[in-house]
Amino acid sequence: MCVDAVQFAEPPLAALTEFRRVLTPGGRLALTCWEAVDPADDRVPVRIQAVDLRRDLARAGFTDVEVHERPVWRQAERDLWEQAVAAIDPDPAVLSLQEEGRRSLDTFDSLRRVFATATAP
Ligand SMILES: C[S@@+](CC[C@H](N)C(=O)[O-])C[C@H]1O[C@@H](n2cnc3c(N)ncnc32)[C@H](O)[C@@H]1O
Repeated sequence: MCVDAVQFAEPPLAALTEFRRVLTPGGRLALTCWEAVDPADDRVPVRIQAVDLRRDLARAGFTDVEVHERPVWRQAERDLWEQAVAAIDPDPAVLSLQEEGRRSLDTFDSLRRVFATATAP
């Protein structure tokens, strides 16, 4: 299982290849991340521009690759950031969270939430 971290590998394909290496034959991978709604949109962070799970899970040799959008999860993220930004609290940690929330909300519609599963052959 890999939750919201595969985008930090350079490139993400390297992590997917490693997941395949460590899985026993028949082992299953479950992975969450974000992908660009439009890969040509320059508001999308470079790390996320590099994520294409359907393409790269196949390139890494996985079978039974399924990648599904999760709009309800994405909406939960929006709710989280909106509530964080609306909070009134001078704590530096909250102020930092609000900064990230404002940045995320500014370009929110440029990303979609995805959930992928695949099998190591
Ligand atoms: C969005 S967080 C998700 C963390 C955790 N999976 C979770 O759901 O709480 C992304 C994580 O990726 C880690 N990370 C960043 N660069 C990494 C790298 N090159 N290799 C492994 N992990 C990395 C960060 O430290 C961070 O913990």
